[in-house]
Amino acid sequence: MGSKRRTVCRGGIVAFVLALTLSYNARASASDELSIGEGQARFVWETFARLNAPAEECSTKWECWMTKAYLFETCEPEWGSPAWVRRLVRLTQEEHGALEYAKTKKLPEAERMRLQSSLEETLQEVRMNQKAFEWIDDHQLRLLEKMQQRYLNYCCKPGYYSARAEFPLGSMFVEASWKPIDPEQKDKYYTIESSELKGQLLGLVGLHLSSKVFSNWLWATWEHVDNPHRFEYGIMPDPLVPAQRFDIFVDQGLCQKDPSEEDDGQKACFWMHYELNGVQVSFMDRQGNPLVLSNSVFETSNPESSCMSCHARSTIGAKDTHLDLFRPRSLGPPDPSWFNDTPFPSKPFLQFDFVNFLRDVKPCEEICGDGSPHCVD
Ligand code: HEC
Repeated sequence: MGSKRRTVCRGGIVAFVLALTLSYNARASASDELSIGEGQARFVWETFARLNAPAEECSTKWECWMTKAYLFETCEPEWGSPAWVRRLVRLTQEEHGALEYAKTKKLPEAERMRLQSSLEETLQEVRMNQKAFEWIDDHQLRLLEKMQQRYLNYCCKPGYYSARAEFPLGSMFVEASWKPIDPEQKDKYYTIESSELKGQLLGLVGLHLSSKVFSNWLWATWEHVDNPHRFEYGIMPDPLVPAQRFDIFVDQGLCQKDPSEEDDGQKACFWMHYELNGVQVSFMDRQGNPLVLSNSVFETSNPESSCMSCHARSTIGAKDTHLDLFRPRSLGPPDPSWFNDTPFPSKPFLQFDFVNFLRDVKPCEEICGDGSPHCVD
């Protein structure tokens, strides 16, 4: 990892030179260790196109998926219309450890401001497909008491491992990030009008995907090409050229081919302004180096992190505790001792597959009301 270790820039020219070196290093190491195979890139771009393809009742397919907000605030959630109504939230600094990061790195004022403003201006949402929702619902993982019960039933007894949550193949989640954009930029972004922000125009700036196509899931992340700090994050070179992507988009109805245009209409299609940062399917590369993959609008405070390393810490422990997502740093495989049922100084954690938002599950009475029959075992 030595070549990839980041140093924080400290002002003026030094900062500029360092920034260039760092982004160069990120890309240089990416081409050695972190390359994406062409088949893999094609697969995730096709997935991106299918998810963003126009849907019957929503603008895109994933916008007809259930939101985390609905799932956690509804006593008897059902798949269908109210479940997908958009609810955007600001990323809390505490959640993503930004202030912690700024402190430990002793970031210069300008850098801290940059972190702050990028956290403040973006709005996020998490959504799941029907398979994932039904599994959560069947296993009652949307209520804190049930989750705790699961922990207590199994913790520290023989067979403890079998209690780990195991989402079915085909489960999928997205996390999307939006920011207000100038209407003049409309042609370059996928946009929505936000009811929370009094009809303000928001552009999609980042999209995270986790998809259980095999047991350790498939992880992929995209950003808008104009995001100013994209190259400071863990990205991998994309083997597909724009024309190949365009063909995929045309096939899925995201773009229209226009032979009268010099570029067949590529520039006119706003989806062509999104870039793939990378794909992750394992914790390490084949030489045993921890893989780095991140997105400047989500991992703002964790440029050198890995999707799988952080998500493997989705857990519940004794007294409703969780593993820390940020310390030690989210790189490489998890430490098996976190989950062991054999001699252990404190109680081990129970893993919830790779699904991080389950940490926010609420007590039954908060959702269904005091004395609700739903809350009686
Ligand atoms: C340092 C921790 C961390 C890293 C690194 C991280 N995430 Fe997450 N991710 C989270 C947290 C926390 C949430 C829950 C957000 C919420 O509840 O609103 C989340 C939510 C998600 C979701 C929604 C489903 C879920 O698991 O809650 C997806 C999809 C996702 N992340 C994908 C990614 C991808 C792809 C990467 C890598 C490019 C990544 N994440 C890197 C912490 C992380």
